[in-house]
Formats: sequence, C-alpha cells, structure tokens
Amino acid sequence: MKNDIEKVYYSEEMIQNRVRELGQELKTEYAGKKPLLVGVLKGSFIFLADLARALDIHCEIEFIAVSSYGNGTETSGEVKMTKAIGDVIRDRHVIVVEDILDTGLTLDYLKKYLLSMNPASLKICTFLDKPSRRKVQISADYVGFECIDAFYVGYGLDYAGEYRNLPYIGSLKPAIYS
Ligand code: PRP
Ligand code: MN
Ligand code: MG
Repeated sequence: MKNDIEKVYYSEEMIQNRVRELGQELKTEYAGKKPLLVGVLKGSFIFLADLARALDIHCEIEFIAVSSYGNGTETSGEVKMTKAIGDVIRDRHVIVVEDILDTGLTLDYLKKYLLSMNPASLKICTFLDKPSRRKVQISADYVGFECIDAFYVGYGLDYAGEYRNLPYIGSLKPAIYS
C-alpha cells in the first residue's frame, strides 16, 4: 500500500495535531449544546472518529451516506444518497463532518437536504478544503487544511474504494490509475 504513494502531503502527526485543535475550537463553540455530528459516509469515518474523541463534550453521532465519485478520480456530478437519515435533525445543533470539500456538489446537496429538516443550527467541518475546484458556491465553517488541487488518498479518502486506512494523506503514483 505504502509503495503506491507518490508524496505524503499531511503526515499522521500533522493530522493528529490539527484534529486536536479543531476539537478544542468546536468544544468552545458547542459546550452545553449537545451537538449532533453527522458523518458523511464513507470518507468521513476516520476523521469523525478522531474529531469526536478530541471534542470531549456531550454529543451524539449520526451517519448519512452519499456518493458521487464511484471508482474514478473525477466526480460524476450526480450525488446519490445511499443512506438517508431519520427525523433526528430537528432542533439540533448539527455539525456535518466531511473528509474533503472539493467541487462542493456533495455538501451543497446535503446542506439543502439537512436544512429542510429544520435543525437549530447547521455548520460544516471538513478536514480538507480544495477551494480551487469549487463548482458551486459553498464554504466550510471549520477546516483542517486548505489544500492544493491534487487527488488525495488516506485518512478516509479513497481511490476505487482503497487506501482509506492510511494514517496519513498522500497522492498516488500515476501508474496506479492506469
Ligand atoms: C468524496 C468525499 C466527499 C466528496 C467531495 O466522496 O468523501 O464526500 O467526494 O467531493 P465534491 O465536493 O466534489 O462533491 P465520494 O463520492 O468519493 O464517496 P465516499 O466518501 O464514499 O468515498
Ligand atoms: Mn464522501
Ligand atoms: Mg470516494
């Protein structure tokens, strides 16, 4: 697995330090509000697990699943919801947790969907933010790192379903795509 990586952009240590900082930031904002963390499957599962532990306040956790990239490195442009969420959003302070905000199509779709369920508040926390690729106007409230335009794997991010379990974030050698 390691042999397939061309370059490490965010080491395990960088990631863990930044997650700890985000946890502190959210803790200040959400103490006493019992936020509902909504993880977007599958990519967010590792970040969500780390963030929830770094948060260290009362909170609840839900998951929603959408997919638009399939097995490629480019979005299909069509966001498909593969696991919806019940009526748990109403009047809650919702924090949507994502691994990456890229074109914005996924979060734009999800934001509209979740807002229609009348949360008390809704904010977005993404580990990576790639603003240069945005196709719709959307921004995150909490960002781990603003990243340059590359195709990343690791820390939840996949290529054709693989590499999510790398503890760091890197790019793949071009040979892997062909
Ligand atoms: C990836 C990533 C984000 C989304 C970001 O999910 O995890 O959810 O794409 O891209 P966008 O801003 O261009 O919409 P993907 O569709 O690959 O599903 P996955 O999380 O199951 O891998
Ligand atoms: Mn995803
Ligand atoms: Mg994916």
